[in-house]
Amino acid sequence: GGMAQINPSILSADFARLADEANAVEGADWLHVDVMDNHFVPNLTLGVPVVQSLRKATGIPLDCHLMIEDPDRWAPAFVDAGAGSVTFHAEAAAAPVRLAREIRALGARASMALKPATPVEPFEDLLPELDMLLVMTVEPGFGGQAFLDIMLPKIRRTRALIERHGLPMWLQVDGGVSAETIERCAEAGADVFVAGSAVYGADDPAAAVRGLRAAAER
Ligand code: DX5
Ligand code: ZN
Repeated sequence: GGMAQINPSILSADFARLADEANAVEGADWLHVDVMDNHFVPNLTLGVPVVQSLRKATGIPLDCHLMIEDPDRWAPAFVDAGAGSVTFHAEAAAAPVRLAREIRALGARASMALKPATPVEPFEDLLPELDMLLVMTVEPGFGGQAFLDIMLPKIRRTRALIERHGLPMWLQVDGGVSAETIERCAEAGADVFVAGSAVYGADDPAAAVRGLRAAAER
């Protein structure tokens, strides 16, 4: 593939040492922050105050992935807290166009995520409103799950739509991305790669980031 961005997910980090963990991934492009509310997904993680503190603790830009109901209400608060990119789920947003415009107007990158069973085609006309589309490669909710190969065709179709419309947007994949699976994602057209357990489960997280980048750009 071409230029790859690697976004470690702090969901797989030690939450008692978040600042150190954020700064342990030297060379990463963004820090991926998974926000879960136990309604949209069956898990509970962190919220706005943690993002505020992370912002002060590290220079790496924050890529907030909101796996929550009512992102229309909450997304602006994450921009205010210091997120440089905010991803809401298509399945949860009441008014995705209005929400994407609001996120951009507040100065952050606007991104929309699709769960594995949500097709990209109904959103073709919305793509110009977005800076990134996230194709989930696991069912959202937990780190450490196995990569879903069956999502590769959706990654390919999404890349084709982006090319057909000549859009500058990024295509992110999240879930089960590892040295083992990243090449397939890159070959299918992804250019932004979230990796939790593959980075924070490694003895040397920064070396894991370098390894993932090399594999994606191979
Ligand atoms: C899952 C989260 C992912 C998760 C990825 O719902 O959105 O960002 O942290 O973890 P790994 O890379 O271990 O699958
Ligand atoms: Zn995520």
